[in-house]
Amino acid sequence: MFTVISESEADTVRFGEKIAAKLKKGDIIALTGDLGTGKTAFVKGLARGLGVAEYVTSPTFTLVQSYKGRDVSLHHFDVYRISDEEEMFEIGFNEYLYENDICVIEWADLIKNLIPPRAIWIHFERTEDGADKRRITVRGLKANDYTCFGYVGTGSVGGSGKGWLPYGRNNHQERKNPFAESYSDDPPVA
Ligand SMILES: Nc1ncnc2c1ncn2[C@@H]1O[C@H](COP(=O)(O)OP(=O)(O)OP(=O)(O)O)[C@@H](O)[C@H]1O
Ligand SMILES: [Mg+2]
Repeated sequence: MFTVISESEADTVRFGEKIAAKLKKGDIIALTGDLGTGKTAFVKGLARGLGVAEYVTSPTFTLVQSYKGRDVSLHHFDVYRISDEEEMFEIGFNEYLYENDICVIEWADLIKNLIPPRAIWIHFERTEDGADKRRITVRGLKANDYTCFGYVGTGSVGGSGKGWLPYGRNNHQERKNPFAESYSDDPPVA
Protein backbone atom coordinates (compact mmCIF):
# COMPACT_ATOMS: atom_id res chain seq x y z
CA MET A 1 0.00 0.00 0.00
CA PHE A 2 1.18 3.50 -0.65
CA THR A 3 -0.22 6.99 -0.43
CA VAL A 4 0.35 10.12 -2.46
CA ILE A 5 -0.95 13.65 -2.03
CA SER A 6 -2.33 15.34 -5.14
CA GLU A 7 -2.37 19.12 -5.00
CA SER A 8 -4.52 19.79 -8.06
CA GLU A 9 -6.74 18.14 -10.64
CA ALA A 10 -3.78 18.17 -13.04
CA ASP A 11 -1.74 16.25 -10.48
CA THR A 12 -4.41 13.58 -10.25
CA VAL A 13 -4.58 13.29 -14.04
CA ARG A 14 -0.79 12.91 -14.15
CA PHE A 15 -0.97 10.26 -11.45
CA GLY A 16 -3.45 8.29 -13.58
CA GLU A 17 -1.07 8.55 -16.48
CA LYS A 18 1.80 7.19 -14.38
CA ILE A 19 -0.31 4.25 -13.23
CA ALA A 20 -1.35 3.51 -16.83
CA ALA A 21 2.28 3.05 -17.80
CA LYS A 22 2.60 0.23 -15.28
CA LEU A 23 -0.57 -1.73 -16.03
CA LYS A 24 -0.79 -5.14 -17.62
CA LYS A 25 -3.51 -6.36 -19.95
CA GLY A 26 -6.45 -7.64 -17.92
CA ASP A 27 -5.83 -5.38 -14.92
CA ILE A 28 -8.84 -4.16 -12.96
CA ILE A 29 -8.77 -0.90 -11.03
CA ALA A 30 -11.44 -0.34 -8.38
CA LEU A 31 -11.88 3.31 -7.37
CA THR A 32 -13.53 4.50 -4.15
CA GLY A 33 -14.07 7.89 -2.52
CA ASP A 34 -16.76 10.54 -2.08
CA LEU A 35 -18.31 12.68 -4.81
CA GLY A 36 -15.83 15.08 -6.37
CA THR A 37 -12.68 13.54 -4.93
CA GLY A 38 -11.02 12.98 -8.31
CA LYS A 39 -11.93 9.49 -9.51
CA THR A 40 -12.91 10.69 -12.98
CA ALA A 41 -9.87 12.97 -13.13
CA PHE A 42 -7.74 9.88 -12.45
CA VAL A 43 -9.51 7.96 -15.24
CA LYS A 44 -8.80 10.82 -17.67
CA GLY A 45 -5.10 10.36 -16.90
CA LEU A 46 -5.37 6.60 -17.22
CA ALA A 47 -6.97 7.07 -20.65
CA ARG A 48 -4.31 9.51 -21.75
CA GLY A 49 -1.61 7.09 -20.61
CA LEU A 50 -3.21 4.25 -22.57
CA GLY A 51 -3.35 6.38 -25.70
CA VAL A 52 -7.10 7.02 -25.79
CA ALA A 53 -7.80 9.92 -28.15
CA GLU A 54 -11.43 10.53 -27.16
CA TYR A 55 -12.57 12.88 -24.40
CA VAL A 56 -13.37 10.94 -21.25
CA THR A 57 -16.40 11.82 -19.13
CA SER A 58 -18.20 9.89 -16.43
CA PRO A 59 -20.56 7.27 -17.87
CA THR A 60 -23.09 7.81 -15.10
CA PHE A 61 -26.20 7.10 -17.14
CA THR A 62 -24.85 4.21 -19.18
CA LEU A 63 -22.82 2.43 -16.45
CA VAL A 64 -19.99 1.76 -18.90
CA GLN A 65 -18.14 3.54 -21.65
CA SER A 66 -15.38 1.83 -23.65
CA TYR A 67 -12.45 3.56 -25.27
CA LYS A 68 -9.87 2.25 -27.71
CA GLY A 69 -6.32 2.82 -26.56
CA ARG A 70 -2.99 2.20 -28.27
CA ASP A 71 -2.60 -1.48 -27.35
CA VAL A 72 -5.59 -2.14 -25.16
CA SER A 73 -9.15 -0.93 -24.65
CA LEU A 74 -10.25 0.87 -21.51
CA HIS A 75 -13.67 0.05 -20.06
CA HIS A 76 -14.77 2.83 -17.71
CA PHE A 77 -17.61 1.95 -15.33
CA ASP A 78 -19.37 4.32 -12.96
CA VAL A 79 -21.77 2.39 -10.76
CA TYR A 80 -22.87 5.30 -8.54
CA ARG A 81 -26.50 4.96 -9.61
CA ILE A 82 -26.70 1.20 -9.51
CA SER A 83 -29.58 -0.15 -7.42
CA ASP A 84 -28.44 -3.73 -7.19
CA GLU A 85 -25.56 -5.91 -8.36
CA GLU A 86 -27.88 -7.76 -10.74
CA GLU A 87 -27.65 -4.78 -13.11
CA MET A 88 -23.97 -5.55 -13.63
CA PHE A 89 -24.79 -9.03 -14.91
CA GLU A 90 -27.27 -7.50 -17.34
CA ILE A 91 -24.56 -5.35 -18.93
CA GLY A 92 -22.16 -8.31 -19.07
CA PHE A 93 -19.71 -7.07 -16.44
CA ASN A 94 -18.00 -10.46 -16.15
CA GLU A 95 -17.25 -10.56 -19.88
CA TYR A 96 -15.57 -7.15 -19.66
CA LEU A 97 -13.42 -8.37 -16.77
CA TYR A 98 -12.01 -11.29 -18.75
CA GLU A 99 -11.48 -9.56 -22.10
CA ASN A 100 -7.82 -8.84 -21.40
CA ASP A 101 -8.43 -5.11 -21.52
CA ILE A 102 -8.21 -2.59 -18.68
CA CYS A 103 -11.32 -2.11 -16.52
CA VAL A 104 -11.68 0.83 -14.16
CA ILE A 105 -14.71 1.12 -11.88
CA GLU A 106 -15.83 4.28 -10.05
CA TRP A 107 -17.73 3.62 -6.80
CA ALA A 108 -16.47 0.02 -6.84
CA ASP A 109 -17.38 -0.41 -3.16
CA LEU A 110 -21.05 -0.51 -4.25
CA ILE A 111 -20.39 -3.77 -6.14
CA LYS A 112 -17.53 -5.07 -4.02
CA ASN A 113 -18.76 -8.67 -4.20
CA LEU A 114 -18.29 -8.61 -7.97
CA ILE A 115 -14.72 -7.27 -7.97
CA PRO A 116 -12.11 -10.04 -8.41
CA PRO A 117 -9.47 -10.35 -5.68
CA ARG A 118 -6.70 -9.42 -8.13
CA ALA A 119 -8.05 -5.87 -8.48
CA ILE A 120 -5.98 -2.81 -7.61
CA TRP A 121 -7.96 -0.61 -5.19
CA ILE A 122 -7.44 3.15 -5.16
CA HIS A 123 -9.13 5.39 -2.60
CA PHE A 124 -9.55 9.16 -2.99
CA GLU A 125 -10.23 11.56 -0.13
CA ARG A 126 -10.08 15.25 0.63
CA THR A 127 -7.56 16.43 3.21
CA GLU A 128 -8.16 19.06 5.88
CA ASP A 129 -5.71 21.55 4.42
CA GLY A 130 -6.94 23.08 1.20
CA ALA A 131 -9.83 22.51 -1.20
CA ASP A 132 -7.61 21.09 -3.93
CA LYS A 133 -5.68 18.50 -1.95
CA ARG A 134 -6.53 14.85 -2.24
CA ARG A 135 -5.02 11.87 -0.45
CA ILE A 136 -4.80 8.90 -2.82
CA THR A 137 -4.20 5.46 -1.32
CA VAL A 138 -3.26 2.55 -3.55
CA ARG A 139 -3.59 -1.10 -2.57
CA GLY A 140 -2.55 -4.04 -4.72
CA LEU A 141 0.40 -2.61 -6.61
CA LYS A 142 3.69 -4.02 -5.40
CA ALA A 143 6.52 -1.53 -5.31
CA ASN A 144 8.88 -4.17 -6.77
CA ASP A 145 6.67 -4.78 -9.79
CA TYR A 146 6.05 -1.12 -10.41
CA THR A 147 9.46 0.35 -9.86
CA CYS A 148 8.34 3.94 -10.36
CA PHE A 149 6.49 3.36 -7.10
CA GLY A 150 9.60 2.18 -5.30
CA TYR A 151 8.76 4.71 -2.62
CA VAL A 152 6.14 4.34 0.03
CA GLY A 153 4.62 6.77 2.44
CA THR A 154 3.10 10.14 1.91
CA GLY A 155 4.40 12.33 -0.85
CA SER A 156 3.14 14.91 -3.26
CA VAL A 157 2.30 13.98 -6.83
CA GLY A 158 3.57 17.08 -8.51
CA GLY A 159 5.21 19.10 -5.78
CA SER A 160 8.67 19.31 -4.32
CA GLY A 161 8.80 15.69 -3.26
CA LYS A 162 9.31 16.58 0.39
CA GLY A 163 7.82 13.92 2.58
CA TRP A 164 8.53 10.91 0.39
CA LEU A 165 9.78 8.02 2.44
CA PRO A 166 12.27 5.98 0.45
CA TYR A 167 11.33 2.34 0.17
CA GLY A 168 13.43 -0.52 1.57
CA ARG A 169 17.07 -0.51 0.56
CA ASN A 170 16.73 2.84 -1.15
CA ASN A 171 16.83 4.42 2.28
CA HIS A 172 20.28 5.85 1.78
CA GLN A 173 19.37 7.47 -1.53
CA GLU A 174 18.62 11.08 -2.11
CA ARG A 175 14.88 11.68 -1.86
CA LYS A 176 13.25 11.96 -5.23
CA ASN A 177 9.63 12.42 -6.11
CA PRO A 178 8.74 9.75 -8.70
CA PHE A 179 5.84 11.84 -9.93
CA ALA A 180 7.80 15.00 -10.66
CA GLU A 181 8.03 15.77 -14.40
CA SER A 182 11.79 15.56 -14.26
CA TYR A 183 11.76 12.06 -12.83
CA SER A 184 12.83 9.57 -15.44
CA ASP A 185 15.00 6.80 -14.06
CA ASP A 186 13.35 4.07 -12.08
CA PRO A 187 14.90 3.55 -8.67
CA PRO A 188 16.69 0.22 -8.17
CA VAL A 189 14.43 -2.60 -7.03
CA ALA A 190 14.97 -3.36 -3.36
N1 LIG B 1 -6.31 17.35 -6.37
C1 LIG B 1 -7.42 17.20 -7.10
N2 LIG B 1 -7.61 16.07 -7.83
C2 LIG B 1 -8.74 15.88 -8.55
N3 LIG B 1 -9.73 16.78 -8.65
C3 LIG B 1 -9.60 17.92 -7.97
C4 LIG B 1 -8.44 18.19 -7.19
N4 LIG B 1 -8.58 19.43 -6.62
C5 LIG B 1 -9.75 19.90 -7.03
N5 LIG B 1 -10.38 19.02 -7.84
C6 LIG B 1 -11.72 19.21 -8.41
O1 LIG B 1 -12.55 18.22 -7.84
C7 LIG B 1 -13.43 17.70 -8.83
C8 LIG B 1 -13.15 16.23 -9.06
O2 LIG B 1 -14.13 15.75 -9.92
P1 LIG B 1 -14.19 14.27 -10.44
O3 LIG B 1 -15.32 14.24 -11.39
O4 LIG B 1 -12.87 13.81 -10.91
O5 LIG B 1 -14.58 13.51 -9.09
P2 LIG B 1 -15.21 12.08 -8.92
O6 LIG B 1 -14.54 11.48 -7.72
O7 LIG B 1 -15.17 11.34 -10.19
O8 LIG B 1 -16.72 12.43 -8.53
P3 LIG B 1 -18.04 11.55 -8.78
O9 LIG B 1 -18.15 10.62 -7.60
O10 LIG B 1 -19.12 12.58 -8.76
O11 LIG B 1 -17.93 10.82 -10.06
C9 LIG B 1 -13.21 18.54 -10.09
O12 LIG B 1 -14.11 19.61 -10.09
C10 LIG B 1 -11.79 19.02 -9.91
O13 LIG B 1 -11.54 20.26 -10.56
MG1 LIG C 1 -16.64 10.49 -11.40
